[in-house]
Amino acid sequence: MTTLIHAEELTKRFDGLVAVNQVNLRLEEGEVLGIIGPNGSGKTTLFNLLSGYFPPSEGAIFFAGKNVTEIPAYQRVKMGMARTFQLVSVFDTLKVWENLVLSNLRTKRVKESPLGFFFSAARKNATLQCCQDALDLVGLASKAETLTYELSYGDKRMLEIAIGISLNPRILLLDEPLAGLSDHEIGSVLEMINRVKQSFSLVVIEHKISKIVDLVQKLIVMNEGKIISEGSAENCLGDPKVRECYWGKEE
Ligand SMILES: Nc1ncnc2c1ncn2[C@@H]1O[C@H](COP(=O)(O)OP(=O)(O)O)[C@@H](O)[C@H]1O
Ligand SMILES: [Mg+2]
Repeated sequence: MTTLIHAEELTKRFDGLVAVNQVNLRLEEGEVLGIIGPNGSGKTTLFNLLSGYFPPSEGAIFFAGKNVTEIPAYQRVKMGMARTFQLVSVFDTLKVWENLVLSNLRTKRVKESPLGFFFSAARKNATLQCCQDALDLVGLASKAETLTYELSYGDKRMLEIAIGISLNPRILLLDEPLAGLSDHEIGSVLEMINRVKQSFSLVVIEHKISKIVDLVQKLIVMNEGKIISEGSAENCLGDPKVRECYWGKEE
């Protein structure tokens, strides 16, 4: 089995605050890992470190055996590491497929001008095909021509995930893909994630363990920047440290 992500002693400090504290992490190809923990426990910061949004204060990150600690985010995307993005930078007045293609190109930092891209038939066809496949996979193909502002919140989340999938990742990092959704929408997104997870490794951040317990093979529980428990969901749920700091406070 290939180790896809290996993080060693990752630490991130913001002034006096240690947001991520000596985290070690290993993910094999094809695995589905869940990261849970109370608000402010460092989950998103850990994603930012893994995806190269900012560098760690200490520690190293290896992707498929290569040290990527100093490699910028867009190059990690090209290597196969994708994460979902908030839809803040999506144009509401564009069609769904237009936003998908634009986000795909922007994330990969395609160097040529958009005009140049559209005249480069091979590249254009390859990208359009990836985007079409992603829309098919998340079930948004019938809404490709819909204006983005007309999408429900659940469908916007599907579009967010489709952008990640369109990058052909070996690993996809999803930061709270269920946040803010209705129970019905949560069901749809979970069903979709279950359907697509065969194609890549997956790391899912979630605030509440109950929502992702059936999805993940392995869990990491974070608190105050540290991993306080890891292993199977049963192990973590039965861990007194988890009960004390997570369930005790949150549930
Ligand atoms: N860019 C930043 N600058 C300063 N502090 C930050 C920054 N990002 C996160 N933090 C702080 O780091 C801690 C962990 O935050 P975060 O990783 O967002 O937690 P989580 O995703 O688990 O809710 C919090 O105290 C947060 O305020
Ligand atoms: Mg977060």
